[in-house]
Amino acid sequence: MNIPTPRMSRRRRPKTSRGILHQLSRPPFRLRALGRHDGSCYRAMSAGRTRATCPHRSDQWDRTLIEMGNPTPDVSVQPVVVVGAGGHAKVIIELIQAQGCYRVVGLIDADPTPRTVLGVQVIGADRDLVRLRGSGINKAFVALGDNRRRVAIGRDLAHVGFEMINAISRAAVISPSAQLGRGVAIMAGAVVNAATSIGDFAIVNTGALIDHDATIAEGAHIGPGCALAGNVRIGRLACLGVGTSATPGTTVGAGALVGAGACIVRDIPDAAVARGVPAKVISVQQDRKL
Ligand SMILES: CC(C)(COP(=O)(O)OP(=O)(O)OC[C@H]1O[C@@H](n2cnc3c(N)ncnc32)[C@H](O)[C@@H]1OP(=O)(O)O)[C@@H](O)C(=O)NCCC(=O)NCCS
Repeated sequence: MNIPTPRMSRRRRPKTSRGILHQLSRPPFRLRALGRHDGSCYRAMSAGRTRATCPHRSDQWDRTLIEMGNPTPDVSVQPVVVVGAGGHAKVIIELIQAQGCYRVVGLIDADPTPRTVLGVQVIGADRDLVRLRGSGINKAFVALGDNRRRVAIGRDLAHVGFEMINAISRAAVISPSAQLGRGVAIMAGAVVNAATSIGDFAIVNTGALIDHDATIAEGAHIGPGCALAGNVRIGRLACLGVGTSATPGTTVGAGALVGAGACIVRDIPDAAVARGVPAKVISVQQDRKL
């Protein structure tokens, strides 16, 4: 009778926790693990704080902390209210829940009709946010696709004392030298490379790639599958449609809208609508409030 060779069965055997810890102790692995987090994790780790400050909480992260001499990480799960109940909110709910350290306790929507979205109850309209803050919920995320409204509401919530958390997929890769603002969404498969800065309330959508030294300003939306080369600058409230690409060093002005599939090879002015390969300006919305 044929007995499987020891080499085969060893390869298929699941790794023991000791084996994983051993891998974590090797510098390249630890670097990769940190790369999945944002700068705040990195800073929290250097400052010796616990996982409660980490927006991801993953097993990898726990193990890294244990290795750092913190065997009893804080396991508290903190309540978060999400503003918005549409398609974008669905993605955000799943991202926030997957981070592990937060629980979405309710949704606030312009239409407060009681209903559930992915199992989360719509609990009120914008006017109810101040009451919620008074009831002890102090973390929020604005999950609205409209750039202007997202920024306006996010700023208001911060003003009344909400902490605006980030919603970052564990399947995103973020350089430890990248800087993230507050209220930022980074979806699965996105890559944010070295020395890039992502402003408050910006969205880096599914599978978008942002190379080194880029600046994504407040409230900008980088659509799914975009590819931005190094030193690209995207202005405040600008929106890049699905699959837009941008060559190195190009700038997209504030409030500009770039059509799906465009290739930006020259700067796009403020409030312009541009599309095509190479991208050409087709109109400028002079009355747009930036
Ligand atoms: C470019 C865009 C803003 C134009 O919107 P619009 O003014 O409503 O355009 P219309 O649908 O009326 O189309 C007008 C013309 O532009 C063409 N067109 C539309 N979008 C285009 C695009 N992305 N690239 C090239 N041509 C485009 C249409 O084919 C049409 O051409 P025609 O007049 O010869 O038939 C829009 O199509 C777009 O690409 N938005 C980005 C959406 C997106 O990806 N959002 C991210 C979601 S997560």
